[in-house]
Amino acid sequence: SPTKMWSGRFREPLYPGFESWQASFRVDVRLLRHELEASKAHAKTIAAAGILTPEELATTLEGLDSIPKRGAEEATKLTNMAFYAEIMKQRMPGIGMVHSSLGSLPMLYPNAEDIHHYVELQLNELIGTLALKLHTGRSRNEQIATDMRLFVREAIDEVIQGLKNWSVALITLAEQSGETVMPSYTHLQRAEPVLIAHWLLAYVEMLARDISRFQDARKRMNLCPLGSGAIAGATLALDRTITARELGFDAPTPNSMDATSDRDFMLDFTQACATLGLHISRFAEEITLHATAEFGFIDLPEAFSTGSSAMPQKKNPDLTELIRGKSARLIGSATTLSVLIKGLPLAYNKDLQEGQEPIFDAADTVTGMLALLPAFTAALKFKPARLKEAAETGYLNAMAGATYLSNKGVPFRKAHEIIGNAVRLGLESGRELNALTLPELQTLSPEFAEDFYQAITLEATLDCHDVIGGTARPRVSAALVTAKARLEK
Ligand code: ARG
Repeated sequence: SPTKMWSGRFREPLYPGFESWQASFRVDVRLLRHELEASKAHAKTIAAAGILTPEELATTLEGLDSIPKRGAEEATKLTNMAFYAEIMKQRMPGIGMVHSSLGSLPMLYPNAEDIHHYVELQLNELIGTLALKLHTGRSRNEQIATDMRLFVREAIDEVIQGLKNWSVALITLAEQSGETVMPSYTHLQRAEPVLIAHWLLAYVEMLARDISRFQDARKRMNLCPLGSGAIAGATLALDRTITARELGFDAPTPNSMDATSDRDFMLDFTQACATLGLHISRFAEEITLHATAEFGFIDLPEAFSTGSSAMPQKKNPDLTELIRGKSARLIGSATTLSVLIKGLPLAYNKDLQEGQEPIFDAADTVTGMLALLPAFTAALKFKPARLKEAAETGYLNAMAGATYLSNKGVPFRKAHEIIGNAVRLGLESGRELNALTLPELQTLSPEFAEDFYQAITLEATLDCHDVIGGTARPRVSAALVTAKARLEK
C-alpha cells in the first residue's frame, strides 16, 4: 500500500527538506486522542451507510483503540539511549520526542505527514487493508477541523475549572482577610480606603466574565464538521447526526465550505485567553508592586519566589513577573490566528496548519498559570498594620468628609471646596483631617460639628459607601456570599 495519502498523481518524490518541513506530525501528534475519537465516530457512520460490515466495524474500532498502546511499545524501542542518541545525531526524519495528549514520548513515526496519516499507517499495520476503508467519505480537511474543535472544547472545560478554582482561592482569602483595609488607588495615587476583600472581589468579577466568555465560545463552537468532505460535503449519503452525537456535539455544522475552513472557534479561544491574560497580568502587577519595600503591603511566599545569584538579600516575585510576561504570549497567539485567517480564500488552505501551535501554546500557558495561582493566592500574607497605616494617612477620608457636609445640606461642590481647604490646612501643618480642631474647621464652615470626627473614622469612611457594589462592610459581606453562590451554580 502507498506510504502517502495522496501519491497517485505524482511522478517525482518530494524534495527531502520540503517533505519534513511541511509535515505537521511533530505538532499535531498532540491530537492523537481526539483523532482516534473522531475516527471511531466516522467508522460508525460509514458502517451505518453500509461501507463497513458489523465485523469490519468491530475490527476497525479495536484497531483504533490499540494504537496508543502500539505507540507506547514503539517508544520503548527508543528507551535504548545509545540508539536514541544515534537517531538524534542523524536527525532521522520521523523519529524524535513528541508531546501528545498521552504524554511526552519518544515515538517512531516513519513517514507520517500528520496525525491523520499516522493513524492510517498504524491502523494499516494493525488490521491490514481494511484500514484503507476508513477514509471513505471523509477528508483530512474536516478531520483537522473536528480534532481542533475537540481539543479546544476540552481546553475550555479545563480553563473554566481552573478559573473557578482560582476564584474560590480569591474568595477564601477575601473571607480570611475579614475587615483588613487597604488604600485604593486611582492614577496610582491614594484614593479611598477599601476592604482587602473588596479589592480581591474585583478580580473575582473579571474571572466571572472570563468564565462566561469561555462558556459562550464553547456553546458557539459545539457543532460537528465531520461529513463536510474536502470542501463540498461528503460524497456518500452519511447520517451526519451519528458523528455529531457520538462526539458530544449539539448538531452537524450547516455549511461544508465554512466548516472545513472556519477557525473562529480557535480565535474565540485565544482571544478569551488573551483577555484572561490581561486580567491575570493586572493582578500580577499589583502583587509585584504591593510586595515592594515601598508599599510593604504583602509578604511574598518564599515557595513562589527566587533569590538572586548576586545579591544575597533578594526575594524576587518570579511568579507574578512571569505571569505578566506570559500574558504577552497569549496576545501573540490571538494575533497569530487573526492574521492567519485574514484574507484567506474559501475554503481549506494549508496556512491553517499554522493555527495549531498558537492554540496549544495558549492552552498550555493558561492552564499552567491557573494551576499555580490558587496555591499562590492562598500563600499570600498581608501586613495589616502597614495597610491600615497607609489607609489612614493621605486624606483618604476626604470624600467621606465632603459627604458629611453634604448630608448637612451643603451643596456637594461647595462641600468639596471646604474639605479641600481643610486638606490644605492639614498639609501645611502636617496633620490628618481628624487632627484639625473643631474651631479650626469652623473657620472653614459653620456646618462642622463634633460628629464630624465620627464621620471620618476608617470604619465610617468604608461604611458610607453603602450601595450595591460598594465597599461598606455589610455590602462586602453580601458580595462574598453572592460571588460564592454564583460559582456553585
Ligand atoms: N495537517 C493538515 C492541517 O493541519 C491537515 C489537513 C490537510 N489537508 C490537506 N488538504 N493537505 O491543516
